Amino acid sequence: MTSLLDNFTARLSKFPSVGLVDVPTPLRPMPRLSEHLGGPNIWIKRDDATHISSGGNKLRKLDRVLYTAVEQGCDTLVSGGVPQSNSQRQVATAAAILGLDAALCVFTGRVENDSVLYQNSGNIVLNTLFGATLYPTPWAGDRNGPIKALAEKLRAQGRKPFVVPYGVSNAMGALSYSSVIAEIAAQTDEAGIMPKAIIAASGSGGTQAGVSLGVQACLPDTAAICIDVDADAARVMADAVQYAGEAATLLDIDFDPGQMRLESGYSGEAYGIIAPSTVEAMTLCARLEGVILDPVYTGKALAGLIGLIRAGEFARGEDVVFIHTGGAPATFAYADVINDALSP
Ligand SMILES: Cc1ncc(COP(=O)(O)O)c(C=O)c1O
Repeated sequence: MTSLLDNFTARLSKFPSVGLVDVPTPLRPMPRLSEHLGGPNIWIKRDDATHISSGGNKLRKLDRVLYTAVEQGCDTLVSGGVPQSNSQRQVATAAAILGLDAALCVFTGRVENDSVLYQNSGNIVLNTLFGATLYPTPWAGDRNGPIKALAEKLRAQGRKPFVVPYGVSNAMGALSYSSVIAEIAAQTDEAGIMPKAIIAASGSGGTQAGVSLGVQACLPDTAAICIDVDADAARVMADAVQYAGEAATLLDIDFDPGQMRLESGYSGEAYGIIAPSTVEAMTLCARLEGVILDPVYTGKALAGLIGLIRAGEFARGEDVVFIHTGGAPATFAYADVINDALSP
């Protein structure tokens, strides 16, 4: 294992970062949740516990993606997402830290939620706090077209924009995210365990790409299982396969997309809409482990792990790692839905 890890780490280190995240993030056991579910020992990788911006998986991606922005002397990060996008909030944070401006397309209509909370609290108020300029943009299904168009508009005005793709998902984002697996490989080795599976949410696909790539390179006996939160598994998988393949080429390592696994059935009726299994997962995690999950990504991902455990996928005594990819600010934007679901 060590030589695989050393080899992978050496390849990753050739790609410089801007130093946004304090790593490694902690890996902790979840004994009460594991006992309650009566299945494997569940460990949680706290990628929400980075030291800035309420944390999250996008900071790890941005760490290398933004190296180019700094190197090219860009002055404005341009990106896009829904009002409660964690990605946007982390782009806005990174811009503040690096002394850049942030221009963000806020896609209206992708998530059907007109509540005052959803439209104004949680992540979106943090974007404003970090100083980002918000551009309301009607959602038409194209994730990156409007972001590129906004960048061109700003360029015509004399700015030097840098396009951060939707979800910070591209080859470099995936490559950068695969560092989480190198950390998990070292941490599980130190804990004396070999995880049967590593579980994470998948939406724009970059996280799944990085996790799958890292697992194949560092932990070949472990399964990388991602949970579709977009209610659009075919698209999510196609994007993840593309980013993982491109990242493997950058790293000059072999990669087999046939081993990638995406579970559907836990996203609820649509992206951004809470399902009963989401509320159950969030409640169990909060009440048994004191850990806040979010309603859009990690709540659904843990619901997926719970579903797999109940379906008998793992035996008692086996170890699985659940990656907490962040998202806590969005919980407050869904306070009305959560209160309704939990009221006696
Ligand atoms: C908290 C959280 N978890 C998981 C994901 C999924 O990551 P990806 O978009 O790379 O699939 C996101 C994406 O926004 C997120 O915000």
